[in-house]
Amino acid sequence: MSLSRLYIEQFRNIQSAQLQLGTGLNLIYGQNGSGKTSVLEAIYFLGMGRSFRSHLSSRVINNQSDKLTLFAQLAADCQVNKIGFRRFKNGDTEVRIDGEKVKRLSILAENLPIQVITPESFSLLFEGPKARRQFIDWGAFHSEQQFYSAWMNVKRILKQRNQLLKNGVSYSQIQYWDKELARYSEIVTDIRKRYVDSLNALLKGIIEEFLPRLDVKVSFSRGWDNKTDFAQLLEAQYSRDIATGFTVSGPHKADLRLRVANLPVQDALSRGQLKLLVCALRIAQGKLLKQQLNKDSIYLVDDLPSELDAQHRQLLLKQLTETGAQVFVTAIEPSAIVDSLTSPPSQMFCVEHGQVTAIE
Ligand SMILES: Nc1ncnc2c1ncn2[C@@H]1O[C@H](COP(=O)(O)OP(=O)(O)OP(=O)(O)O)[C@@H](O)[C@H]1O
Ligand SMILES: [Mg+2]
Repeated sequence: MSLSRLYIEQFRNIQSAQLQLGTGLNLIYGQNGSGKTSVLEAIYFLGMGRSFRSHLSSRVINNQSDKLTLFAQLAADCQVNKIGFRRFKNGDTEVRIDGEKVKRLSILAENLPIQVITPESFSLLFEGPKARRQFIDWGAFHSEQQFYSAWMNVKRILKQRNQLLKNGVSYSQIQYWDKELARYSEIVTDIRKRYVDSLNALLKGIIEEFLPRLDVKVSFSRGWDNKTDFAQLLEAQYSRDIATGFTVSGPHKADLRLRVANLPVQDALSRGQLKLLVCALRIAQGKLLKQQLNKDSIYLVDDLPSELDAQHRQLLLKQLTETGAQVFVTAIEPSAIVDSLTSPPSQMFCVEHGQVTAIE
């Protein structure tokens, strides 16, 4: 799957851009503040209905405008032809797929799986488990249909359970909820575990190429100890949960453990190595989606050359190209990418003050 055309209107400093995209590698270059990341962000918005760098969606609307509009035409072999997205400053959102209005934003994600690698992606490794759990769940969501509703049920029941705990109810009053919670948690956990196992199989080869001689281990931690049945644990920890006012253990605490020679990766790897590890995780995720569902991802790699030497830029570009997917990379100087490629990019764009120009 790939995007053949992209229209951007009133998105950050881009007032209007109409791009004919290449099926392979698209290189977007320009000076600081020209609008390169904004182009990637616009594509991400089309797939996810939100930004990867601002929690407030209204911030991405051009300062002079009250709404932004995005539109993409997909390549001929895709199930969907056109995706349209409009967001107003007051928060109202309109999503259209092939001209039909749709309500659920997850429909966007199903149709446009996006892998984003930005300097902020390091949070995947550095910050708390939330970003790593989201990484697993992205894959779980795409790989098994049951995941979404089971996870929504876990979140709904946890919220209710936590409210009851705050009210100090007796165990018999939450027993029913605990059974339900344990049932859905098992589904979520099984899917997550299967997903990390499959991912690991693909990840191994990429890590060997990017980080040879390093013993990197990626494992799944389900959110409570491995030996205890979750329903029993909920009962056993009822008094602790009542004291804290929330459910301490469970699938909401699941994590992806990343270690090198038994140390957390952030203590064992350099910045460039961490960047390569994030890239390896994202590439493996895209490859797995292709393997499992024959679905192509779109890769967005912001500021690809930063932190990487020439040899590693080359390796990363080779891996990205080999996925066969559509890739968008940004760089300040085009040579930082072009010199590391064996064949020219399928399309190049120069960005200046929010104007995006195709380079023939
Ligand atoms: N809502 C907005 N309306 C108008 N302009 C905005 C808005 N939000 C951000 N900008 C401006 O958009 C410009 C483009 O930002 P962007 O992050 O895309 O640049 P960039 O080319 O990626 O730069 P860098 O090389 O420094 O990463 C910036 O000058 C920024 O100040
Ligand atoms: Mg940028």
